[in-house]
Amino acid sequence: MANMEVNKAFAAVLSAGIVFMMTGLVGQGLVHVERPKESAIQIGDLAAVQPTQAPAAAAPALEPVTPLLASANVQNGQALAQRLCASCHSFNEGGRNGVGPNLYGIIGAPHGKADGFGYSAALKGKGEPWAYENMNAWLLKPNTYAPGTRMAFAGIGNTSQRADVIAYLKSISPKAPEP
Ligand code: HEC
Repeated sequence: MANMEVNKAFAAVLSAGIVFMMTGLVGQGLVHVERPKESAIQIGDLAAVQPTQAPAAAAPALEPVTPLLASANVQNGQALAQRLCASCHSFNEGGRNGVGPNLYGIIGAPHGKADGFGYSAALKGKGEPWAYENMNAWLLKPNTYAPGTRMAFAGIGNTSQRADVIAYLKSISPKAPEP
């Protein structure tokens, strides 16, 4: 008799389970919830709604040039230097200073390297020698690199053009270190 009771109890539990499962299935069938394909609020939308905080006269970002030097176009750099810099600078060995100093051998030389040129304190005060990334920063925005510099030149915003000019400066700098 005791066995019967156990069986009954077992059957009760089992059928309760089956009923429970069935209601679940039926419930799912009746109330089929459509999942929206896209969530109503997208992260991208939120970002677009955010006001952009960039100040009006944001400086162009400084991207490194060293990785570009191996494939930079020295000829194009020379042409750019003739167009953008030659009104103030000479580039030949022993060339004379003009509005700006002679730039022969500039990569690897100390800041303010040209004898007899009256540099500003802003430039002369920089201790380390000219290398690729400080030249990069200088040519992007001279007045940001050396606030108060007398070089009246806005800068070259295009990174690959800067790389070409710097590759040209390297080509006229016998003591330039390897990038
Ligand atoms: C309007 C004239 C002018 C133009 C254009 C100009 N520069 Fe200069 N540059 C100067 C002057 C002036 C200085 C000295 C700045 C100082 O003493 O603060 C100078 C300094 C420099 C120096 C530092 C030299 C040293 O001995 O440390 C470099 C490098 C240089 N210029 C590169 C260039 C390049 C490259 C261009 C063209 C992309 C260019 N400059 C365009 C006038 C000019």
